[in-house]
Amino acid sequence: MRNLQVGVLTPQYLTAALDLDRRCLGGLWHLDGYQREIDSPNSDLLVLQRLEASDTRHSPSLLAIGCSWAILEEAHITLLAVELDYQRQGLGQALLCCLLKAAHDRGLERATLEVRVSNQAAIALYEKFGFQTAGRRKRYYAETGEDALVLWRGGLHHPHFPATLANWQQAASDRLGRSGWQFNGK
Ligand SMILES: CC(C)(COP(=O)(O)OP(=O)(O)OC[C@H]1O[C@@H](n2cnc3c(N)ncnc32)[C@H](O)[C@@H]1OP(=O)(O)O)[C@@H](O)C(=O)NCCC(=O)NCCS
Repeated sequence: MRNLQVGVLTPQYLTAALDLDRRCLGGLWHLDGYQREIDSPNSDLLVLQRLEASDTRHSPSLLAIGCSWAILEEAHITLLAVELDYQRQGLGQALLCCLLKAAHDRGLERATLEVRVSNQAAIALYEKFGFQTAGRRKRYYAETGEDALVLWRGGLHHPHFPATLANWQQAASDRLGRSGWQFNGK
């Protein structure tokens, strides 16, 4: 079994975060963008890292990164990316689960994000977590002229949400387990 842990991005992993961003998101954020999120009390900038229990010489590899901003009562999910060689193993859903838990822990009521209309993988992932399309921003992505879908997921503050979250966390751990990961998620 390979070990996976969730945590916040720390400055020592900024270079790894930038590399992952460039490979998976085409260079969405630069160094100052990541540093700003690390410094902001309103941001949850989370990472999944592989724990190399058998070799303490190596730092844990950064395999996925996600970010959510708390704005009023809303969680704006601004970033979610999984290293190319590790996609389709359950890391994306595990990290999304962690971001939604962080939003719930902050007392936020709903989550929102923008996604390219062509990004079927991400849309399928968000729909699994109850996100629904609330609108469309025309030509939102300047470099391609592609539209964005605006997705929303309400109910984060409802009394039954912790039970939903627990089910998602279990499903995420099970999914990772089937891909050979032991996940020490919160
Ligand atoms: C979107 C992304 C984060 C998904 O991460 P992932 O670790 O591959 O996803 P998971 O393995 O956790 O998959 C969870 C669910 O998402 C959906 N999904 C993920 N990849 C998919 C694909 N290629 N095609 C269709 N559905 C997909 C499925 O519903 C899947 O559940 P299943 O495995 O039970 O079918 C990843 O593809 C990625 O980093 N893409 C590039 C960056 C990006 O587009 N980020 C989103 C910006 S809004």
